Amino acid sequence: MADVAGPTRVVLAGAGRFGALHARTWSEAGARIVGVVDPDARRAEALAARHGASFGSDLSEVLRPGSADAVVVASTEDTHVPLALEALRAGCHVFVEKPFAMRPADAAAVVATAEARGLTAFAGHVSRFAQPYVRLRDAVDAGRLGTLWTLRLRRDFSRAWFESFGDRVDPVWESCIHDVDLAIYLASARPVRVVAQRSAAAGRAAASVVSALVAFDSGVTATIESAWAVPDGAPGTLAGVLELDGTIAAECEVIGSRGVAKQRLVNDSLTEWTDTGATTPDLTLWPEVAGRVGGALAAEVAEALAVFRGERPPARMPHREALWSVELAAAIVESAESGAVVTIPG
Ligand SMILES: NC(=O)c1ccc[n+]([C@@H]2O[C@H](COP(=O)([O-])OP(=O)(O)OC[C@H]3O[C@@H](n4cnc5c(N)ncnc54)[C@H](O)[C@@H]3O)[C@@H](O)[C@H]2O)c1
Repeated sequence: MADVAGPTRVVLAGAGRFGALHARTWSEAGARIVGVVDPDARRAEALAARHGASFGSDLSEVLRPGSADAVVVASTEDTHVPLALEALRAGCHVFVEKPFAMRPADAAAVVATAEARGLTAFAGHVSRFAQPYVRLRDAVDAGRLGTLWTLRLRRDFSRAWFESFGDRVDPVWESCIHDVDLAIYLASARPVRVVAQRSAAAGRAAASVVSALVAFDSGVTATIESAWAVPDGAPGTLAGVLELDGTIAAECEVIGSRGVAKQRLVNDSLTEWTDTGATTPDLTLWPEVAGRVGGALAAEVAEALAVFRGERPPARMPHREALWSVELAAAIVESAESGAVVTIPG
């Protein structure tokens, strides 16, 4: 990294909803946003103006030799791999929003390109930085639950979101991928086999209902279910900072030989009732607290920044686990399409 002494210089690729939140969070963490890239020039310009950064429609326009230390890829899903490779080849660390890639070979190419240059490709799996899941992992590591037997992970998204962005790639890469990573994180093991089913209900929305049964090389199993089925009338959890109001209802259960632990993402403690409705605001993922973005996103960005600055190794989001998440999600899609048990090559 060229500028370890001063603030880390970050170029943001993708000035949409999550890109804008990333720019704010990286900036609040002490990084300097030096460039914003988006083919939608008005979006790029507006976000760049907020951060005093340059802007362009293409990464190569903004990323000059030695001009940045890291690139944050928060663009539409199918652009992540080429942008990550371009950033790494320019000598920058890269933070890649989920999905890290959508083909195992692409994920392997990103990791190989990073490692050949001594750089980090940090996969943006925000949930593993959320305190309840970190605490669950601690419980597993400390043996408080005994020998880990199985994991149950379930996630419902607002139904309305499916129409706006849920099916721009296979929904497994949009929603299931969070639990794919959480299962790997909590099991600390490599997924080796999966069988998955989609709902047989009519219409393209059926693709958003997936159930998968996963086996890990440790003998642990996991069930992963996701559906974009939360009705509009449900209490909202996300409001404000993401410009995407709605509900994420996720549940996680960890079952071991000596104990069971459960986590519910929705309605964890706070309820707000107003004349326009009831909300149970998110306090876990990216709550705005005292004017700053907090929660898992702030913790994730702080960790990525420390890794990029060479202050610690990428132990909390290792390259190999980024690869495993892509391998498992790809196997879920393959099994859901074919109905067959899919073995993931080692
Ligand atoms: N970790 C999470 O919980 C979480 C939450 C929301 C979104 N995301 C991820 O963040 C990414 C962005 O999602 P979003 O909701 O902001 O989408 P969005 O549609 O609001 O924004 C995507 C932006 O990317 C831009 N873009 C397209 N091609 C580009 C390119 N080649 N270079 C630069 N920009 C390009 C688009 O013009 C658009 O402005 C997605 O990968 C999504 O899965 C993750």
